[in-house]
Amino acid sequence: MLVLGIETSCDETGIALLDEQRGLLAHAVHSQVDMHRAYGGVVPELASRDHIRRVLPLADGVLADAGRKLADIDAIAVTLGPGLIGALLVGASVAHGLGTALRRPVIGVHHMEGHLLSPLLADPAPAFPFIALLVSGGHTQLLHVAGVGDYRLLGETVDDAAGEAFDKCAQILGLDYPGGPAVSRLADFGTPGAVMLPRPMIHSGDFAFSFSGLKTAVLTAARRIDSTCDQARADLARGFVDAVVDVLAAKSIRALQSSGTRALVVAGGVGANSQLRERLIEATRCIGATVHFPPPQLCTDNGAMIAVAGLARFKRGAIDASGAFTVHPRWTLAEGH
Ligand code: KG4
Ligand code: ZN
Repeated sequence: MLVLGIETSCDETGIALLDEQRGLLAHAVHSQVDMHRAYGGVVPELASRDHIRRVLPLADGVLADAGRKLADIDAIAVTLGPGLIGALLVGASVAHGLGTALRRPVIGVHHMEGHLLSPLLADPAPAFPFIALLVSGGHTQLLHVAGVGDYRLLGETVDDAAGEAFDKCAQILGLDYPGGPAVSRLADFGTPGAVMLPRPMIHSGDFAFSFSGLKTAVLTAARRIDSTCDQARADLARGFVDAVVDVLAAKSIRALQSSGTRALVVAGGVGANSQLRERLIEATRCIGATVHFPPPQLCTDNGAMIAVAGLARFKRGAIDASGAFTVHPRWTLAEGH
């Protein structure tokens, strides 16, 4: 079975072709980061217009790379939410247009389920059950995953997401948008412990997170340092990254221990962070568990994760053959699954 995956929920147009037997045949992502950089964040209307321009040429390119034709596709998987309404509508319209023209089923996918199942593209893929740490620009969640579609939310952020905290920290430090990778690179030059920042809710005893206070702490610390001193800025970035990583790691380990689960899966844009990866590899090794990451280029938004989640849903018979469609800008993973 050959699945075309389409992702247009935010500022990346992602297209992928996934073969049930042979795995990922080809995929391509067009990032709009350069276009939005001047505004310091994603401009929804510009995002929608760019998706319109990119989606079909990108699909043609992916089909050519895989040596396949449109008619070879057996099903189309598309992100229906959560995300920007205009951006989601572009992907959904294209998917349903293709589905109607080709007489193929269209499978609506939850963006976070795509992130959640993206480690299934890794070799070796994790076995169920596992604990999932979803850390993106909009989400910070710990879930118990018993199988495809069987997700139990253990806890999530009560305010900012981890990726959002990275982006705000970058802004304070005068780094380019999107901030996560830039803060991470700067932190590599910082001295651990030189700047100590709070670890919000680390001892709360539950799986909730809070990152907005940390942003304020970074702002206060930034006012105290010499902003022209590269080492001082690197030390502050290091202090921030260590605080975020400490909290994410502590709660992930507790989730593994309290559920008796032996595998941790990390997904979402912040999952590309090298400091978080190193810490989780070490921390899980210490308790005899394993940690699985999607391949780094599949951590941020892409079409492959939507194709994987779509295929999994298709095999469970979760498709809507009515031909009608809607998108869900706000949509929790627990709803409708
Ligand atoms: O999953 P994603 O591509 O989009 C959302 O669905 O939100 O995640 C984007 C977020 C951004 O906040 C970005 O700054 C962060 O992931 N990010 C990182 C890294 N790469 C991306 N944060 C820390 N370190 C990174 N290497
Ligand atoms: Zn995402």
